[in-house]
Amino acid sequence: MYTLTYESVAAKEFSNSEMDELLQKARSNNLKLEITGCLIYYMGGFIQVLEGEKEVIKNFIQKSRSISVIEKSICFQTTTLK
Ligand SMILES: Cc1cc2nc3c(=O)[nH]c(=O)nc-3n(C[C@H](O)[C@H](O)[C@H](O)COP(=O)(O)O)c2cc1C
Repeated sequence: MYTLTYESVAAKEFSNSEMDELLQKARSNNLKLEITGCLIYYMGGFIQVLEGEKEVIKNFIQKSRSISVIEKSICFQTTTLK
């Protein structure tokens, strides 16, 4: 099991309905990928903790580089759990 924590700057302000849509997509996709975690939205930024199989998390992060609503992101922790 692997966890990755990153912080990112949102390229725009999210309305409640846009945030609901994002969460709906993320939750259903994460269920399929067997990823879990936590997403915090605060003052124009996100902190997200992801937990799952290492390769799955790494692939996800690679793909998320092209998410248009994220301006820049920085990974600040990875941990491999038993
Ligand atoms: C901060 C943030 C966190 C996200 N977390 C997840 C996630 O955990 N799982 C997932 O499948 N998609 C996640 N997404 C992706 C969204 O569900 C959605 O697919 C994406 O915002 C669409 O991007 P696009 O408009 O560039 O196509 C996340 C997006 C953002 C902005």
